[in-house]
Amino acid sequence: FTQITDKVQRGNYAQLNDKDVVHFEQLLGKNHVLTEDLDAYNICFQKRIRGNSKLVLKPGSTDEVAAILRHCNERRLAVVPQGGNTGLVGGSVPICDEIVLSLQRLNKVLSVDEVTGIAIVEAGCILENFDQRARDVGLTVPLDLGAKASCHIGGNVSTNAGGVRVVRYGNLHGSVLGVEAVLASGQVLDLMSNFKKDNTGYHMKHLFIGSEGTLGVVTKLSMLCPHASKSVNVAFIGLNSFDDVLKTFVSAKRNLGEILSSCELIDHLAFDNALDHYKFLKSPITGYPFYMLIETSGSNATHDEEKINQFISDGMERGEIIDGTVTGDPGKVQEIWKIREMVPLALIEKSFCFKYDISLPLRDFYGIVDVLRERCGPLATIVCGYGHLGDSNLHLNVSCEHFNEDIYKRVEPFVYEYTSQLKGSISAEHGIGFLKKNYLHYSKNPIAIDWMRDMKKMFDPNAILNPYKMLN
Ligand code: FAD
Ligand code: MLT
Ligand code: ZN
Repeated sequence: FTQITDKVQRGNYAQLNDKDVVHFEQLLGKNHVLTEDLDAYNICFQKRIRGNSKLVLKPGSTDEVAAILRHCNERRLAVVPQGGNTGLVGGSVPICDEIVLSLQRLNKVLSVDEVTGIAIVEAGCILENFDQRARDVGLTVPLDLGAKASCHIGGNVSTNAGGVRVVRYGNLHGSVLGVEAVLASGQVLDLMSNFKKDNTGYHMKHLFIGSEGTLGVVTKLSMLCPHASKSVNVAFIGLNSFDDVLKTFVSAKRNLGEILSSCELIDHLAFDNALDHYKFLKSPITGYPFYMLIETSGSNATHDEEKINQFISDGMERGEIIDGTVTGDPGKVQEIWKIREMVPLALIEKSFCFKYDISLPLRDFYGIVDVLRERCGPLATIVCGYGHLGDSNLHLNVSCEHFNEDIYKRVEPFVYEYTSQLKGSISAEHGIGFLKKNYLHYSKNPIAIDWMRDMKKMFDPNAILNPYKMLN
């Protein structure tokens, strides 16, 4: 661990005492109040941050969440809401001794309506389980990401998670029709809705999409689920230059248009590292500077296959695509997706990794990777880029054997300054959490930050919800 939390001054919160624990035991039952073996809740996914919580609470209903927060607010006990704990910015773990409020038990899919496409789901439902329930009636959740086997839909909403389908379905501000959230006071805010169209005043649900547990605890939501596509094809292609990547992206939008469902980029260092680390990965092609994973999802297999094959052969004829493979076989489609999904895990598992998740104008998308490689020199083992090209979202990663101050100083705040100069976003999809809160001003002006602070005060006057995160 890099003990960056050591420098944090504990807020003026009450200390948890035995009476509090007994109170929570009476409220939830002893089984749902944990005071031992809390590492899994205290340590972040990247193992960069270890908090020191002494208490994990697992409510089983909205009323229980409300009762917990009412007590914490009265006593001024700080709380960190936690979903699947797959967040990558240290937002889901305590920084000091905050109580962990885990949504794990609120995990039911309450309804999925085949006709309207609307699903009502509790916040703690694991994304993959939710998607399976939707698929049982021919629908799908319009969100897919590598952490789907662990992350919660409530965590996804709270981070406004992006993932690999944004290019097709847009982000969660469009798909989430309503939320139920419990405020710090214990009041339950019912913003559930079953309609796309609802212009009755301020669109308050949006405040809970991406506010990272700082304004309230999301307990339930309604989601518009599209029909699952009957025909899914994936092209995995090798390219020689980033210029060719851009040309291929434009061609994909022009020629695959209505069936394009994903457009991902992996550079050779990220790709080689994943294949080297996970021997089970099988790639149909190797040896190119850039790889693109392009997926189509439609309803007519013959038409879709013809389109994607034509797209590849045209790209090859123009010399933009060097080699590639197209498959509609579900097993092979999964094999190819696995390569993309394992890229971040290989980097995290192998060594220490500084991770940046930025939005950049497409023409400047990859330049920063080369600049940073040069800047880090031999201090870094890998400086690579991959990500959601279709959404202008680059994942820039700098690996080194161990946390290293020298590299740290070379990459931060440089990456944020560079991004800000290009009017990009310093957090495209992972959020601000703990790790990026000092850099918020690179993407938001002082007036916007003041308004954020005022909103925070209004929702949570005692600042008990997820302190030390997002805002300084
Ligand atoms: P947690 O990590 O538990 O929490 C994240 C934040 O949300 C915290 O601030 C927490 O306090 C808050 N929170 C959680 N649940 C609630 C709730 N019910 N109410 C209020 N606040 C809550 N992210 C992307 O956007 N796109 C990707 O493609 C992507 N791929 C990933 C791949 C891998 C392998 C990994 C490890 C992570 C990836 N992530 C990605 C990051 C992460 O999975 C997402 O941010 C995800 O949405 C977090 O969900 P979670 O349930 O794990 O939330
Ligand atoms: C991804 O797209 O793979 C995730 O957002 C995780 C990462 O950035 O590494
Ligand atoms: Zn991502």
